[in-house]
Amino acid sequence: MKRVVEPEWLDFLPAADPRAAASRRDLRRVNWLMGNAAILADALARAATKPPRTLVDLGAGDGSLALRLARRLSAPWPGLQLMLVDRTPSIAPSTLAAIAETGWQAEMVAADAEDWCRNCAGCADIVVANLFLHHFDDEALSRLLHAVAARTSIFAASETRRGAVALAGSRLLGLIGCNDVTRHDAVVSVRAGFAGSELSALWPRDGWSLREGPAGWSSHLFVARSTALRNGAGAA
Ligand SMILES: C[S@@+](CC[C@H](N)C(=O)[O-])C[C@H]1O[C@@H](n2cnc3c(N)ncnc32)[C@H](O)[C@@H]1O
Repeated sequence: MKRVVEPEWLDFLPAADPRAAASRRDLRRVNWLMGNAAILADALARAATKPPRTLVDLGAGDGSLALRLARRLSAPWPGLQLMLVDRTPSIAPSTLAAIAETGWQAEMVAADAEDWCRNCAGCADIVVANLFLHHFDDEALSRLLHAVAARTSIFAASETRRGAVALAGSRLLGLIGCNDVTRHDAVVSVRAGFAGSELSALWPRDGWSLREGPAGWSSHLFVARSTALRNGAGAA
């Protein structure tokens, strides 16, 4: 299946639109069904050799995925500073409060992901992205991934897997009550998703150890770890 990137409806609806709000609720269930929080948390725990101080979530949406990460990882990684970057963040005060209860300090940043990576001061120990990279065509994605690589030592992304099983699953989301926006965007997301080592091919070549492949029943996991970390350099 060839990779095709098309606009998603949720990206163009105003944050307060009721269909957008319902679709964001659907997305929480989709993430749960795909197991994305567990996939990312396991990948991060394996990649980090010591507790990180800072973690950035690119395309953080309503912050619920970050909250799930905080609940899974705050015990081994206490007091982490979490930055939730999104062009149109939709994070409820209750989600920020729930993150704070885990002991992590969350900050919401309204910014384009690539602009943020290019302009932020300093580096993040870890950068994550969930159901975000598939929004970009290969050229824009290569630019974004190079900007991320310049800012961190560990990057992990859980994405839609481009394949028949995920496509069939995306077409069945009406059965669990997902609305028209979610049903449309899910199919578009799978067609724009990833397979093989497509993300590795867009990541900078030298100085990284890369892992990429299927995860769960419909996700595609990419993990990049700076080889400098093996020698004790870096914060993570
Ligand atoms: C499919 S949602 C995923 C949200 C969240 N990561 C999750 O798993 O629930 C994609 C998010 O990316 C954001 N987004 C799209 N393009 C962006 C960009 N260029 N920079 C920052 N955020 C962007 C959208 O606003 C949206 O919240």
